[in-house]
Amino acid sequence: MNALAERSRPRPLSTEGFERFKVRPLSGTIGAEISGVDLDRLSTPEIDDIRTAFARFLVLVFRNQGDLTPENHIAFARLFGEIQPIAHLDHIEGHSEIQPIHRHANDSKRITGELFHNDSTYMPTPPTAIAMRAIELPPAGGDTAFANLQLAYNMLSPAMQSFLESLRVVHSGKRLFGTGADQSNVHMKAMNPVEGDRELTHPLIVTHPVSGRKSPFVNPAYSIRIDGLEATESDAILSFLYNHCTQLALTARVRWEAGTLVLWDNWAAYHSAIGDYEGYARTLHRVTVGGPRP
Ligand code: SIN
Repeated sequence: MNALAERSRPRPLSTEGFERFKVRPLSGTIGAEISGVDLDRLSTPEIDDIRTAFARFLVLVFRNQGDLTPENHIAFARLFGEIQPIAHLDHIEGHSEIQPIHRHANDSKRITGELFHNDSTYMPTPPTAIAMRAIELPPAGGDTAFANLQLAYNMLSPAMQSFLESLRVVHSGKRLFGTGADQSNVHMKAMNPVEGDRELTHPLIVTHPVSGRKSPFVNPAYSIRIDGLEATESDAILSFLYNHCTQLALTARVRWEAGTLVLWDNWAAYHSAIGDYEGYARTLHRVTVGGPRP
């Protein structure tokens, strides 16, 4: 456990205030299984409570949603904002909003999203939420892990919080899609390398557009450097943040089952696709929700 974490150990998130469904936390700090709702038939009060639970837990797991229609998968995601498909992912036939994350049984390409990360932070308006459902699963493994970045922020000293709030970070897709990258090893549609190399900046600490809570917004997939710092300073701070934000006390993992749909926050939570199912296929269908510029 790192020393800073001692200053404010996280407490379990409260499950109080939900009468329309059952809420079972995945861990003390992030994620909850919601049972007793049918995503094909949500009432307005249920939607309000799901929004409240989402702002608190950042990751919601809905089991037994195998009958959910593609239209209702999209409609559910749309409750959290405009749909914003990822440009370099394919989509399923008939639904441009639904994009498969697929790995074959004998695939040798890298797992998509194995490191803890936020998706697509090289975009001016990175997604705020993702609603992903299980289609084909290995017999075991292939879980997705999450980490609570809002609690990671709260656990920093006030001096560190205000220093980080003064900084901006350069993001780019260049490690995956740039001129120096081997795009044949990636499960995504190739991107024009010049576009892949493009850089933009976001604040290092972002304010959530719904809850107003703050969190670090850096990840090892797309954050290149902290603007204005020496390379050694930038590397040291980014590496401190990656360790700080992924300490086990801030994490939980979701075991996918047939019929599982997971909704997660892409600004306030990290996610990581765990690559422990070599030899088996895994397919998930995702719908991505866009947001404002951080
Ligand atoms: C991703 O969006 O990074 C993939 C998540 C997963 O496959 O579990």
